[in-house]
Amino acid sequence: MEFIKVTNQIREHISLIEFNRPKELNALSPQLMSELRDALLALDQDESVRVIILTGNEKAFAAGADIKQMADKSAIDMLLQDQFATWDQIKKTRKPIIAAVSGFALGGGCELAMTCDMIIASETALFGQPEIKIGVLPGAGGTQRLTRALGKVKAMEMVLTGKFISAEEAEKYGLVNRVVPVELYLEEAFKLAAEIAQQSPVAVRLAKEAVLRSFESSLEEGLYFERKNFYLAFASEDQKEGMEAFIQKRKPDFKGR
Ligand code: HXC
Repeated sequence: MEFIKVTNQIREHISLIEFNRPKELNALSPQLMSELRDALLALDQDESVRVIILTGNEKAFAAGADIKQMADKSAIDMLLQDQFATWDQIKKTRKPIIAAVSGFALGGGCELAMTCDMIIASETALFGQPEIKIGVLPGAGGTQRLTRALGKVKAMEMVLTGKFISAEEAEKYGLVNRVVPVELYLEEAFKLAAEIAQQSPVAVRLAKEAVLRSFESSLEEGLYFERKNFYLAFASEDQKEGMEAFIQKRKPDFKGR
């Protein structure tokens, strides 16, 4: 891995992926994205991992797709290369992913953060979809996910002007879970990850699936999906352990089975 660093089990059941192209503000080149896809796939299959944190550095989460590597491409080059297919792994990952964002989260960087399940932002974080300024538009979900998160008018303004929003605004609009001082953003992501890692991994997986289903379905279909997953949770040993522990007034010990 050249452009990302993976620390498996940085804390119990938590793995950290750090982008490592600091000179290019972590621009998301095809190679970086294939490394990210491979890392996510491996961590998703590793039963000891319960939560994944994705981060950049203090200056940049990621300043977008790599403009220099795209600049002279034709539409057919883009189509045949289909480099954005690697992005699909992020949304296919079954374990929860928390983006810990400081500095620039622009273009593909903003889209990547929004594809994660939760976002912890440092007070220096800046979110934006500046593609319009280089003659294109968001291509990895920005027009869709930003609109669902912020509503039409705010998303339209950001996408059509390329203007950035601050961490504080992002929190006000519900784009991020919370904003903390820059020296604490990673620690805050660890705290959130640790809370989730204590829960039953089976229930977490079923719950994540159900929340995500709400973006894809009518209320009636979503409710039906949720109910099926709720019933399925009763097939797990973790459900028995969780409910017995409650009755016996002790902490549950979830095994992910
Ligand atoms: C390639 C990039 C880059 C990018 C920064 N760099 N962003 N290289 N692709 N997206 C490089 C710069 O060329 C420069 O390299 C170095 O990183 C430092 O950047 P500076 O511009 O010198 O830093 P600064 O003045 O602090 O400005 C920071 C910035 C600016 C505001 C973030 O770099 C910027 O506007 N970047 C582009 C943001 C953007 O348009 N993103 C959307 C990309 S399109 P050198 O070698 O000169 O030192 C996109 C489409 C997604 O994401 C589609 C689906 C995947």
